[in-house]
Amino acid sequence: MRTVNTPALETERLTLRRFAEDDLPALFAIFSDGEVNRFLPWFPLRSMDEARAFWQERYAERYRQERAYQYAVCLKSDNIPIGYVNVSMEEHHDLGYGLRKEFWHGGIVTEACGAVIERVKADGLPYVTATHDRNNPRSGAVMVRLGMRYQYSYEEQWQPKNILVTFRMYQLNFHGKQDDVVYRRYWDHSAVHFVETAV
Ligand SMILES: CC(C)(COP(=O)(O)OP(=O)(O)OC[C@H]1O[C@@H](n2cnc3c(N)ncnc32)[C@H](O)[C@@H]1OP(=O)(O)O)[C@@H](O)C(=O)NCCC(=O)NCCS
Repeated sequence: MRTVNTPALETERLTLRRFAEDDLPALFAIFSDGEVNRFLPWFPLRSMDEARAFWQERYAERYRQERAYQYAVCLKSDNIPIGYVNVSMEEHHDLGYGLRKEFWHGGIVTEACGAVIERVKADGLPYVTATHDRNNPRSGAVMVRLGMRYQYSYEEQWQPKNILVTFRMYQLNFHGKQDDVVYRRYWDHSAVHFVETAV
């Protein structure tokens, strides 16, 4: 596997790059919105101090590691972050994304994730997975548009919000058939797991 950390990428409309310290106001605009952050494992940011701490922990710190894919999504026209796409270096290689509300419905996240997926595939990752709350079908629609395959559902008492969530898990394998390898740890760790036939 190639050792890379968030190499800059370009698509037709977008620049994908690291979040810099100068981007804190833009990062705050993304991560402070209640609706955009409702289905995510953190509370919406309330101040610039919280934004700085969030950036340190989830971006600056990861950029110091050997490998990471922690992108700011910017329109080429102004290079200001309006969203994010991440791929985890943990075994699940979870794909995560979010976008400021005023940019929804334009295919921006699908375009950004497509470029990141191509890159992690070229760099040697075996697959990506993604999970979404069953009550957040917009996120599931992104997974489908990316060609990811639904594998199973499971319940989790989700932290730090401490709510019971039913997640749907999707996976995209880069080698062999889509069902050859399925990441099973969420299934194994959850007492309540099942396959929904209607998904
Ligand atoms: C999930 C989320 C990123 C989806 O945003 P989105 O803009 O719908 O996603 P896409 O980039 O895939 O855009 C798809 C929409 O753009 C339209 N579209 C326009 N041009 C398009 C193109 N070139 N390619 C694909 N879709 C396009 C599609 O028809 C679709 O329209 P619809 O919303 O009316 O159904 C957004 O709702 C969000 O930020 N939610 C909060 C954060 C979140 O929940 N993250 C996931 C946690 S698991």
